[in-house]
Amino acid sequence: MRDAGRTLPRNDPRQYDDLAGEWWRPDGVFAMLHWLAEARAALVPAASRPGALLVDLGCGAGLLAPHLAGKGYRHVGVDLTFSALEQAAAHGVTVVNGDATAVPLADGCADVVAAGELLEHVPDWRRAVAEACRLLRPGGLLVLDTLNDTAVSRLIAVHIGERLPTVPRGIHDPRLFVDARALVAECARHGVELRLRGVRPQLTGLLAWLARRVRGAAGAPGPAPRIVPTWSTAVLYQGRGVRRG
Ligand SMILES: C[S@@+](CC[C@H](N)C(=O)[O-])C[C@H]1O[C@@H](n2cnc3c(N)ncnc32)[C@H](O)[C@@H]1O
Repeated sequence: MRDAGRTLPRNDPRQYDDLAGEWWRPDGVFAMLHWLAEARAALVPAASRPGALLVDLGCGAGLLAPHLAGKGYRHVGVDLTFSALEQAAAHGVTVVNGDATAVPLADGCADVVAAGELLEHVPDWRRAVAEACRLLRPGGLLVLDTLNDTAVSRLIAVHIGERLPTVPRGIHDPRLFVDARALVAECARHGVELRLRGVRPQLTGLLAWLARRVRGAAGAPGPAPRIVPTWSTAVLYQGRGVRRG
């Protein structure tokens, strides 16, 4: 199992520089981000007008890009981390180096705002939510996924997850996990009625993937686990909501 390679505080963004070579490795430490990106993109319909803009807050290395292909959006990605943005640009994303809590883009510019696996990394996630909603045009769509602020989420995402090859050690600070009800309330305050559903990796696919990882590089590549809906939002959840006109 790889970790950030040097001792940095939990959730320190410099970890993404240390792990820069991992982003696009399908079986690397960011593999689960690939699975989640596919599931997030499935929430995004084809663009309803020419030139439609999708703003991807905390875009990382642009893992959402291949899953948006053919949907008709200009994909603009905002992130703190240069080394990730370089890779996002190489995958066709128009990149903006910036903070999701103070995005240098105009009010109402976006047909879609995506915030995948971002909010649980932002000390002031409410500010990032306000920015996401500010960027949306009336009728625009917010899609996100994040980790809930619950004991079971801390257990699975940190204490268990960080012992598996699916979560880099130290990448999360569980104190920043996002209470689902507070998130819905915050979005509503900013004009977006967010609907949530719990999601998780499909179990047999995940076990097969972990077995391949344990066997190592010699193992034959196989299909990625799918992210599927689950009955509880207590750990990982997606949100989808439209900005009021
Ligand atoms: C877990 S990664 C998710 C990346 C991408 N959304 C994906 O799903 O592949 C979190 C990303 O958020 C970025 N990030 C963290 N805090 C941020 C902030 N305040 N503003 C912008 N980006 C931030 C990190 O640099 C990193 O690229």
